[in-house]
Amino acid sequence: MKYQRRESTAGIPPGSLGLPLIGETLQFMASINSGRGFYDFVRVRRLRYGSCFRTNLFGETHVFVSSTESAKAILNNDGGKFTKRYIRSIAELVGDQSLLCAAHQDHKLIRSRLANLFSTTSLSLIIKHFDELVVQTLSRWEHRSTVVVLDEALEITCKSMCKMLLSLESGHELEILQKEVAQVCEAMLAFPLRLPGTRFYKGLKARKRIINILEKAISGRRRRSSGREAYDEDFLQHMLMEDGKASSEEAHRLTDAEIKDNILTMIIAGQDTTASAITWMVKFLDENQEVLETLRNEQLQVAKKTSHKSYLSLEDLNEMPYASKVVKESLRMASVVPWFPRQALQDCEIEGFKIKRGWNVNIDARSIHVDPVVYNDPNKFNPPRFEDESMPYSFLAFGMGGRSCLGMNMAKAMMLVFLHRLITTYRLLILKARAIV
Ligand code: HEM
Repeated sequence: MKYQRRESTAGIPPGSLGLPLIGETLQFMASINSGRGFYDFVRVRRLRYGSCFRTNLFGETHVFVSSTESAKAILNNDGGKFTKRYIRSIAELVGDQSLLCAAHQDHKLIRSRLANLFSTTSLSLIIKHFDELVVQTLSRWEHRSTVVVLDEALEITCKSMCKMLLSLESGHELEILQKEVAQVCEAMLAFPLRLPGTRFYKGLKARKRIINILEKAISGRRRRSSGREAYDEDFLQHMLMEDGKASSEEAHRLTDAEIKDNILTMIIAGQDTTASAITWMVKFLDENQEVLETLRNEQLQVAKKTSHKSYLSLEDLNEMPYASKVVKESLRMASVVPWFPRQALQDCEIEGFKIKRGWNVNIDARSIHVDPVVYNDPNKFNPPRFEDESMPYSFLAFGMGGRSCLGMNMAKAMMLVFLHRLITTYRLLILKARAIV
C-alpha cells in the first residue's frame, strides 16, 4: 500500500519492473506454463496494485488498465494517441502485413478490403457449412462414451475457416494446414527463442510452410481464372477478384503478401477463439442447470419450426433471443481474448497516471468483465442480465472501435449453431473440466 502511494505521487503507475533487462518475463512465462493460464500473471498484479499497474516484459514497459473509461479513451483513440502493438514474436508469426500488426494507415486500407468479405451472404454460407460439420461431428459422438469438447470444437472451427477462406474441405492438404496452424498458435505463447527445437522456432517454420501452401493456392487460382475455369466462392477468390478490379487504382490493391498474411491471420484469429468460447459455454451450461433448462425449451421450439429443413439459416438464428444472451454471457465470463495490446504514440495520462511515449498499454478486458461496479454479481452466469442496457464499454469480448473483431457475427453464429445442435441432440454430463485459456 505504501509502495503504491509513493509510486502514484511520482505519477507513474505502480508495479514492479523486475530484474534488469528481462523484467518480469520469467514470471509471465511461468504463469503460461503453470496450468493457470497466462492471465494469471495479470490477475495477481491487478489484485496487488489496483486497476492500473506497470510491469516489464521482454525488455519493454507494459501498463495494464482496467476501467471502462480508460477502455473507451484508448479504443476510441480520438486523438490518435495509440496504435495497436503485438510483441515482436507474434508479429513475426502472423506476418508484418497482417491486420493484427499493420501500422495505422496500412491497417485502414487492409481492413476496408477485408471487411467487404464479411457480408450477409458469406455469413449465410458459413452458417450452413458450420451446421453441416456440427451435425456430422455430433452424430459421431453417439458411439463414444466421452468426448473432449475443446478438441472437437477446434477441429470443426478450423475446418470451417479453411472452407470459408480457401474452399479446403477435406484431404491431405487440409490435414497439413490444420497441423501447421496448430504449431503457429502454440508458438504465439512460447518464449521467442530462435533456436532449432524450440516451440517458437517450430512455429516460424510452420508459418513458412503455410505461406508456401497459400502461394501455391494463389498461383493455381490465377492459372484457372486465365483459363476461364469455374472458380470457388471463397475469401481467397474474392480477394483476387478485388485485386483485378483494383488494378487501375494501384494504391488500393492487396499485395500477395497482404493476402497470404491475412488468410493466415483469419484462420488463427477465428479458430482458437471460437473453439475456446464454445468450450467455455458448454462448461457454464453444465454448471447452471436452470439456464440450461430455459435454453432447452427455447431450442426445442426452434427445432420444431425448422424440422422440415436439413440446416439452420441466419433467420433461424434470429429466433433465438435466450440463446444469444447465453452466448454473450459465456463470452463475458470467459473473456477469451483477455487483454488488447496498444502502444502510446505520445506522452499522455490514463487514470491519473503518466504514460510515456513508446510504452505498451494493455486494456484488461477480463477485469472489466468481472468488475462488480460494472456487472452486478459478476461471477454468476446470468444470461438475462443483458436484457437491461449495459454500461458503455463494459462488454469487450470482441473489442470496440476501429480494431474490433471482424469475425464477430460469424463467431456468434457458430456458437449459436453449436448450441442448438448440442442441446437438441444430447443431454450434457461433464466429467472433468480443464482450464482453457
Ligand atoms: C469467439 C470468437 C472470437 C473472439 C472472442 C474474438 C475476439 C477478438 C477481439 C477482442 C479482437 C480485437 C482485439 C483488439 O482490439 O486488440 C479481435 C480482432 C480480430 N478478429 Fe476476432 N474474435 C473471435 C472470432 C473471430 C473470427 C471467427 C474471425 C474471422 C475469421 C476473427 C477475425 C478477427 C480479425 C481479422 C481481427 C483483427 C481486426 C483488426 O485489427 O482490425 N475473429 N477479435
